[in-house]
Amino acid sequence: MTDKALHKPLVFSGVQPTGNLHLGNYLGAIKNWVPMQDEMPCLFCVVDMHAITVWVDPAELREKTREIAAAYIACGIDAERAIIFPQSRVSAHAELAWILNCVARVGWLNRMTQFKEKAGKNRENASVGLYAYPVLMAADILAYRATHVPVGEDQKQHLELARDIAQKFNNDYGVEDFFPQPEPLILGPTPRVMSLRDGTAKMSKSDPSEFSRINLSDSNDDILQKIRKAKTDPEPLPDTPEGLEARPEAANLIGIFAALSGRSRESIVGQYAGAQFSGFKSELADLTIATIGPIRDRMQRLLKDKAALDQILERGADRAREITRPVMARIREIVGFLG
Ligand code: TYM
Repeated sequence: MTDKALHKPLVFSGVQPTGNLHLGNYLGAIKNWVPMQDEMPCLFCVVDMHAITVWVDPAELREKTREIAAAYIACGIDAERAIIFPQSRVSAHAELAWILNCVARVGWLNRMTQFKEKAGKNRENASVGLYAYPVLMAADILAYRATHVPVGEDQKQHLELARDIAQKFNNDYGVEDFFPQPEPLILGPTPRVMSLRDGTAKMSKSDPSEFSRINLSDSNDDILQKIRKAKTDPEPLPDTPEGLEARPEAANLIGIFAALSGRSRESIVGQYAGAQFSGFKSELADLTIATIGPIRDRMQRLLKDKAALDQILERGADRAREITRPVMARIREIVGFLG
């Protein structure tokens, strides 16, 4: 049988256990994972090895890893159907990352915009891990020969790199179809949720302002206050989607409304044409609370039983390892490592 004949549809995605999970992670990624469980096998990883590319307190890392697993389940991921696991518990990720480090080119990594943003001015002092981070991400995906990768828009460049690495591996080793070309799935009306304080900056776990993001752990009152204080402009809401073009804050709030309600931007713009922000914001707050509130409550309940979460993660790692075993055996053979 050829390698291509062995390609099977499979979803892989992940979230880093750092900072607080926010509305961007939910609307840009996790929400879109839920329906995929009915369509193909899914692996949803808590990428703790990615988290240590910058300093993180070990006790906090353990807690955050459980928190992300609880969030996945609270958002509707079923730990029986999908595989939920911590990256560090499946050694194939690290092993394949090393092999792929030897395939990826320095010039390719030098183009990664996220490294430039995260390393900032002090590039010389960034960890080697932060620089090589996109290669580990490629390994995450390729260790399972995953075909579909649902992510927010900010991960697009990393996905393109994973495709280039897969292609170069196949070419260099003359195994034309060994790795599939993983398909980025950038879905929904808000593949890029923006900060509530600045409509031109991404909503991010690392933004120092709590008012820039809605966390999945926020109380109803926090959500209300953050939406009330969200930056807007002095004009009323526009009556056509084109009217949002030079108005990043209004466009962001309309996008969030559309994603939460499952409606199109056009229909939201139509409904609030010419309205003031205050009434719109209060309905947006109600909608956000109606979505995030139950997720937060489920998360809190799940986090009370750490042993149960650890068991889910351990069992997930066992299942994930099973999938990587034959893939890694074949990779070692292709590369020329003794079997
Ligand atoms: P991370 O932890 O930064 O984010 C997790 C997911 O949330 C999406 N996201 C957003 N979507 C819309 N608007 C936003 N403001 C926003 N902020 C974050 C991200 O695009 C992502 O889908 N490197 C990845 C994790 C990773 C991964 C992988 C993903 C590691 N290995 C393999 C897919 C496949 C990351 O740091 O995501």
